[in-house]
Amino acid sequence: MRSAAAPVHWTLVRRTVQIEGETYAFEALPSFERASAEAYRQLSRNEVRTTQTAREDLSPMFGVIWGSARVLARRLHHAELDGVDALELGCGLALPAWVAARRGATVLATDQHPDAGPLLARNLARNGLQDRVRFQTLDWRRPGELPRFERVWASDVLFSRELPALVARTFARTLAPHGVGWLADPGRTYLPELQDACAEVGLAMEVDVDDDGAGTEAFVVTLTHQRRALPAGKG
Ligand SMILES: C[S@@+](CC[C@H](N)C(=O)[O-])C[C@H]1O[C@@H](n2cnc3c(N)ncnc32)[C@H](O)[C@@H]1O
Repeated sequence: MRSAAAPVHWTLVRRTVQIEGETYAFEALPSFERASAEAYRQLSRNEVRTTQTAREDLSPMFGVIWGSARVLARRLHHAELDGVDALELGCGLALPAWVAARRGATVLATDQHPDAGPLLARNLARNGLQDRVRFQTLDWRRPGELPRFERVWASDVLFSRELPALVARTFARTLAPHGVGWLADPGRTYLPELQDACAEVGLAMEVDVDDDGAGTEAFVVTLTHQRRALPAGKG
């Protein structure tokens, strides 16, 4: 697969994933490591000059399902989502969006990677979910105007230093006043930084640990807007 915007030709493999006994069929990169090596070879062979930031933006991490996505997907499988409008941030293959769509949600799946949308379109069609999930490019560094959603979620998006602040700001800007956000994380180095980043933008957070039903665990952070204390009444 190669999209017009990206300089790498990705080799895809067919896979299935089971979430609580329901099967989802999809195409994906063979593994993060293999795809990274292949992307590096292609960029060198074609003498594509990229900055480190551009190389990070083209990282193949969008093209595999990470453990935290399976944990979040299992949680969404059991959530009340019928008729809910939801937003997924840094979706990659967007497994949580597929599961939520089967539970009746309408999901806007977003990512900055130029190949995430085309690959998602193939996988939605494969699972008959193309009417319930749509894709929009969204880069947290340049978010622009965004509507608000009752549910906002993300999995495994805190892998570098600047991301806790950017991700917290994006949750704060997109979560409806009484909405609920979830962020699943495998315990990345920058997860603890999320606490201060959330306080900075007026989000309250609670952390628990959940699993995918097959032995993979992740932290799941629940995010809500902080309620300001009501001013004391007179007398
Ligand atoms: C480790 S992958 C996780 C993918 C997917 N959420 C999962 O758990 O399977 C991180 C994702 O965040 C996206 N991402 C990284 N920086 C981003 C940014 N500044 N704005 C939007 N998405 C970003 C990447 O393109 C990638 O798809």
